Amino acid sequence: MEQGLDLTIRHGRIVTGDAIIEGDVGVRDGRIVAIEPGLPPGARDIDAAGRWVLPGGIDSHCHVEQLSGMGVMGADDFYSATVSAAFGGTTTIIPFAAQHRGMAVPDVVRDYAERARTKAVIDYGFHLILANPDDRTMMRDLPEAIRNGISSLKVYMTYDSMKLDDYQLLDVFDLAREHGALVMVHAENNDMIKWLARRLIERGHTAPKFHAVAHDPLAEAEATNRAITLSRLVGTPILIVHVAGGSTVEVIRSAQTLGARVLAESCPQYLFLTAEDLDRAGLEGAKYCCSPPPRDAGSQEAIWQGFADGTLLTYSSDHAPYRFDETGKLPKGERTTFKEMANGVPGLELRMPLLFSEGVLKGRISIHQFVELTAANHADLYGLSRRKGRVAIGTDADLALWNPDREVRIAYDDLHDRVGYTPYEGKVIKGWPEVVVSRGRVVVENGRLHAERGSGQYLRREAPIFAWPPRCSGASRPRAGLLSEALAGAKSG
Ligand code: URP
Ligand code: ZN
Ligand code: ZN
Repeated sequence: MEQGLDLTIRHGRIVTGDAIIEGDVGVRDGRIVAIEPGLPPGARDIDAAGRWVLPGGIDSHCHVEQLSGMGVMGADDFYSATVSAAFGGTTTIIPFAAQHRGMAVPDVVRDYAERARTKAVIDYGFHLILANPDDRTMMRDLPEAIRNGISSLKVYMTYDSMKLDDYQLLDVFDLAREHGALVMVHAENNDMIKWLARRLIERGHTAPKFHAVAHDPLAEAEATNRAITLSRLVGTPILIVHVAGGSTVEVIRSAQTLGARVLAESCPQYLFLTAEDLDRAGLEGAKYCCSPPPRDAGSQEAIWQGFADGTLLTYSSDHAPYRFDETGKLPKGERTTFKEMANGVPGLELRMPLLFSEGVLKGRISIHQFVELTAANHADLYGLSRRKGRVAIGTDADLALWNPDREVRIAYDDLHDRVGYTPYEGKVIKGWPEVVVSRGRVVVENGRLHAERGSGQYLRREAPIFAWPPRCSGASRPRAGLLSEALAGAKSG
């Protein structure tokens, strides 16, 4: 090695794209420059004996310093959110720059960029939330945002203040196809939910558990099927976010089997919580209210299966941090109904440890699938794969050193977000990312943060096409062809 190394990570079990290598990772100027046993000492050496050396996670669905559709500001800013993510082994986040009705996209993007710039401690990009697809947005601002590196956007089929109708969805899908962007869809049938909610409230059923009744699995499955149908009409790939119900997994799997260009994501709350968690004493269940809501044991199993067989490609937190007080979950105190509670659960920090413990260590997914679901597939889908998502020579040295033997009893007091609680309090898990490295900087070590505010970098993302085909392992391998074709279709029109 002619030039010296800045950092050498020694004797680790390194998971690269296809292989597991027992050896060292050499880092120079923030990049990985060597992966082999017996590297020379770096300016700094870290002993990774007995540790998995994995790519730092990419969390491609989280809400940070964002005004919700109901007009509620989340509890985490770009500092607390990125610190929390880093402690959980995540080194890149892609939160949302949220356009609300009446807002212009350039103002929205500038606003979020400015807030993140001085606070983030790890790297970040943005998706755009599109709620105002007026002529100016569609003809000028949105194409420009895509060209400038915001190569994905989220649309809502529910929430009165956010939802697009089918006509507007067709327009957005068409535009995304033309410009090579990926559309993320929040698929729930707004009228079904409103109809059910109104009847529940009229009968005095206002407790948090009725949130899960109003957000019936049929509302999710119907909207998912409709979104896929609309996207087929236009020939645009879409990604269904936060899949919760087993019936929705089925809708997606059958559409994929028929050749539909549909990708999908799910989240920890759909693997580790159920609707029964909403049925807790008093208003406690509000802490578990998110949309779609957690379902039942059968749906949890379907989500595991979807991850194992490649129907679901990304595992994100959907971190939506609302405190258990009048600023978030309880705007009307004790009188708050399920319709008035902010929707969302925290998850940035525990996303990866939960999946490592319950997925990898319990044999539900392989270590390669863990890497794909938490990092590599996000990099491919969101135009980051030249730099992020895999341990490979030439990529950013974003790494997490996992101790598979460390047992952790989850306690909110040990976490780093500002939500005030965790839905997973008291759960005992195994495995923890003890050292986390972002672009060669050791940002977490010995339970301490070593990163300055504002040291995270903005990521201007490429179009998804450049990252294809993805390298799916094990049972998910057959999907690669479908996905490759999906995005090739996006590019060629
Ligand atoms: O309940 C949720 N998921 N809240 C966050 C907003 C969203 O729709 O992702
Ligand atoms: Zn959503
Ligand atoms: Zn979300």
